[in-house]
Amino acid sequence: MTHASLDSSLQEFVRALPKAELHLHIEGTLEPELILELADRNKVSLPYSSVAQLRQAYSFTDLQSFLDLYYAGASVLLTEHDFYAMTMAYLRRAHQDGVVHAELMFDPQTHTQRGVPIETVFAGIARALREARATLGITGYLIFSFLRHLSEEEAFRTLEEALPLREQYQDLWVAIGLDSAERGNPPEKFARVYARCKDLGFRLVAHAGEEGPATYVRDALDKLHVERIDHGVRSEEDPELVERLAAEQIPLTVCPLSNLKLCVVDDMAQHNLARMLRQGLKVTINSDDPAYFGGYIVDNYLAAALSLSLSRAELGQLARNSIEASFLPAPSQQAMLARLDSYLQTALPA
Ligand code: ADE
Ligand code: ZN
Repeated sequence: MTHASLDSSLQEFVRALPKAELHLHIEGTLEPELILELADRNKVSLPYSSVAQLRQAYSFTDLQSFLDLYYAGASVLLTEHDFYAMTMAYLRRAHQDGVVHAELMFDPQTHTQRGVPIETVFAGIARALREARATLGITGYLIFSFLRHLSEEEAFRTLEEALPLREQYQDLWVAIGLDSAERGNPPEKFARVYARCKDLGFRLVAHAGEEGPATYVRDALDKLHVERIDHGVRSEEDPELVERLAAEQIPLTVCPLSNLKLCVVDDMAQHNLARMLRQGLKVTINSDDPAYFGGYIVDNYLAAALSLSLSRAELGQLARNSIEASFLPAPSQQAMLARLDSYLQTALPA
C-alpha cells in the first residue's frame, strides 16, 4: 500500500471504531461560519467580518490566548435556537466520526453573565441531544462546568439557579466539571462547591494538569473527589501520581490536537499519550474544542496514531477505555463494548 492509501485505510478504521467522546466543550464546536451567521442574526458585533479573518485569529500561544477568543465566539449565542443549532451540528459531525456516546461540557456562566437565561441554555442543548438520540441513535450526557477564573460564590449561585431544572433534564445532566484558566485557580478553590455537588449525587470531573502542575491532578482527586481527570498530561511530572493513576485506573480525557494548538506540547511526536497508555493508564482520546483546534475526534485519533505509531489494537484499546470511562450505566456500556469487540474481530489482523 502507498503511504496515502495506508492513511486512508487507517482513517476508515478509526472512523468506524465505536467510541465515546468524553471531553468536549460544546461552545468549542462553534465553527466560524456559524459564529458569523449568528452574529449577523443576533446583531452581535465582532471584530471579524469574514470566515477567513476569524480563522486567521486561531493561532494560540497558551490556554488564555485561546480562552479570550473562545468567550468572544460564544457571545453570539442568545436564543434557544442558537444552542440547539450548535449542539445539533456537533452531534451530526460526531455521529459521522463513529461516536456512539458523547458527554458534553457546557459553561452556563459564560451565558448567564451576558444575561442569557439558564433555561434557554439547557433547553436548546437538550432539544438537540434528545433529537439526536431519536434520529441518529447517538446518546449524550451533559457536564455542567464551572468557570474556575470566577469565584466560589458565583459557582454556588449558578448551581442554585440551575437546580430547579434538574428534574426536567435528569436524563441528560449527570455530571459537574471545572474548566477555564487553570493556573492560579487550584482545585481547592472549589472544594466546597464540589462537596455539595457530590451530596446532590452528581458524577464529578475536573480539568487538571493541562497547564497546571501535577499537584492539581492529585488535588482534583483528593480535594474534589473527581472520578475522571480532563487532560492530566502533566501527571508524568510526579511518578508516584502516575503509579496511582494506573493502579486506580483513573480515566484521563486527553486531547492531542488541543495540547498541540495551546503549546502544551511542542510537537505531536513528543506527546506522552502513547507512553501513558503503554504504562497501563486509562487514557482516552477526545477533541476538546474541535472548531478551534483543527480537528474532530477522528482527526485526534489519527494525529496521535501517525505521530506516535499507535497500533490498531492500541486504537481499539483507546476506544474501549472511552466507553468504560463514560458515565453510562453498565448495561449500556456492555452493549457498546460488544459492538466494539465485534468490529475489532473483523477489522484487526488475527
Ligand atoms: N474551556 C474550553 N476548553 C478548555 C480547555 N482546553 N481548558 C480549560 N478550559 C477550557
Ligand atoms: Zn477542555
